[in-house]
Amino acid sequence: MKHLLHCLPLSVICLFAVPMMAQSSAPAKKAEKAAAQLTIAADKTLHGVSPSLYGMMTEEINYSYDGGLYPEMVRNRTMRDGGWMQEDWMVVQNAAGGASFVNDEKEGPTAALPNSIRLTVTAASPAEPAGLRNNGYWGYPLEPGKSYKVSVWARADGAADLTAALVSDKTGKAVASTTFAGVGGAWKQYQGTLKTGAIAAGQGYHLELTLAKPGKVWLTLASVFPETYKGRPNGTRIDLMEKMAGMHPKFLRFPGGNYLEGDHISERYDWKKTIGPLQDRPTHPSPWGYHSSDGLGLLEFLEWCEDLKMDGVLGVYAGYSMKQEHADPGPALEPYVQDALDEIEYATGDVTTTWGARRARDGHPAPFKISYVEIGNEDEFDQSKSYDGRYAQFYKAIKAKYPTLPLIATAPVTSVVPDVIDDHYYLTAESFFADSHHYDKADRKGPKIFVGEYATMEGSPTADFGAALGDAAWLTGIERNSDLIVMSAYAPMLVRVDPGGMQWHPNLLGYDGLHSYGSPSYYVISLFSGHLGDRVVESSLTGGGSRFAYSVTRDNGKLYLKLVNGAPTAETVEVAVTGPTAGAGKAWTLHAASTVDTNSIAEPRHIVPVESAVAVTAGKLVRNVPGYSVEVIELPVGRTK
Ligand code: AHR
Repeated sequence: MKHLLHCLPLSVICLFAVPMMAQSSAPAKKAEKAAAQLTIAADKTLHGVSPSLYGMMTEEINYSYDGGLYPEMVRNRTMRDGGWMQEDWMVVQNAAGGASFVNDEKEGPTAALPNSIRLTVTAASPAEPAGLRNNGYWGYPLEPGKSYKVSVWARADGAADLTAALVSDKTGKAVASTTFAGVGGAWKQYQGTLKTGAIAAGQGYHLELTLAKPGKVWLTLASVFPETYKGRPNGTRIDLMEKMAGMHPKFLRFPGGNYLEGDHISERYDWKKTIGPLQDRPTHPSPWGYHSSDGLGLLEFLEWCEDLKMDGVLGVYAGYSMKQEHADPGPALEPYVQDALDEIEYATGDVTTTWGARRARDGHPAPFKISYVEIGNEDEFDQSKSYDGRYAQFYKAIKAKYPTLPLIATAPVTSVVPDVIDDHYYLTAESFFADSHHYDKADRKGPKIFVGEYATMEGSPTADFGAALGDAAWLTGIERNSDLIVMSAYAPMLVRVDPGGMQWHPNLLGYDGLHSYGSPSYYVISLFSGHLGDRVVESSLTGGGSRFAYSVTRDNGKLYLKLVNGAPTAETVEVAVTGPTAGAGKAWTLHAASTVDTNSIAEPRHIVPVESAVAVTAGKLVRNVPGYSVEVIELPVGRTK
């Protein structure tokens, strides 16, 4: 059963949701009530913990990739026609007004990129060049002493020398430049390096592509790329990858979300158009209101998994797009089923398979690990009610070729039994506290559960502390039920915080061009995931109130206690552990004085976990959990069977 599923605007969600938790900025008060009693039998295992419990969900939303994780600096690099609102590309004029351009729909280097900008320069000199300007994603985020790879596809009417320069918005002066001499009559890619000197780090820069003599050139697929994570060509942004690694994620669900489905069938995530050289990727409109470069395509998703040591949870397009377009089960659906089979083969097949060989040609001979395949996304929104039939058709075809590959359904189906159901929850903190026992009594005989999207709907652009409390309470229930729940992921994960960058809030990680930060919820997930354990042990709680939640897990050596106090006042918890427990442990406390307090670009580490020492004496521990706080406590335990 899904809760408050999200194609709905946030206002609609709030109408349905239980009232938000009180947002007080009053300082936390001392505990005045009786202590809660938490009894733990460390040597009594209830069930195992899913090792893949914590992972990540991603899609192109909030400039997650373009303008985000995919650090290409040129916006609209394929020079699509921006119409009368041509805002990505502008002319660089000189005193003679020497430059003009048009979008030429008939001139392009490849079938995928049949268009270009035709730049005409009628008057120019080395002192007064003229050409094109690109402002990038809220500017070009440059740093001193760095090298940036620059490239552009070009052809000239006759011959031309094309200069690419990174220019300061303030001074109008180039801070790095290179000239591609002798651009000729045939389409060709020109590549170089732009090296900055002692400049101020910041986003106040732009790109200029200019001629120093009159001439006519056609241009497309311009690129300015910084260093990437692990130095991968066409790779990912370093600080964001490092922050994600801090979440200890075991899987990545990609490519969406709504982004998988698209508004229309023609705008779905058509994976075959996202692989291979960039000049062979036609790009596509995304349902979140901007165009996707597809620079971060299927192979790059898989490499992202590889870089962070995650399994892939591959979402395959299932024949339904959000403006109520669908393909009926039967012959009309067959091409999409075949696309899914090909996609799985591209990801996992060895080089003797057709699509495994294609992956090798694209630069990655070794297969990737896909641990689950998800068929569609939120298909209960399909008013034609065709999902049951569509799911069954995909299920049978995929199982015939990959019998052991678990398949996820996104809505209830009856024709076949799915291995896993994907449930999504976007709720208030109050609702998450109230619902943290949601799965305690759930049927254990049916499909497993993937909580493929959840978030407490507080905070913008990123989750605030009230949201972190709600998320933490919810996660205690997920851990307690991790025999049934195999995976969980917060959504959405990424947001560009510059004006206009956000289509949805809250989000987990915020960033501009150069800086990034984790929300309090990011630290909750990182703490929980980093102290997972491999089994849930027997425990019981008396007292604690409706805004208190906990979970207890362990492995061979450590007991992990998660305590969430969503009330403004402190909660004393008397912990009694039976089983071999003694000695020094550690605690991490995440606390804020107010539920609306949060982190930001200006204060990225305002709310972060604080580590302290704890000791268990004769199996006893008294913990004064401050109001508005989340604690993870790690205690030593002896081995048990
Ligand atoms: O996470 C944002 C959106 O919420 C996802 O794209 C969709 O699956 C859900 O409705």
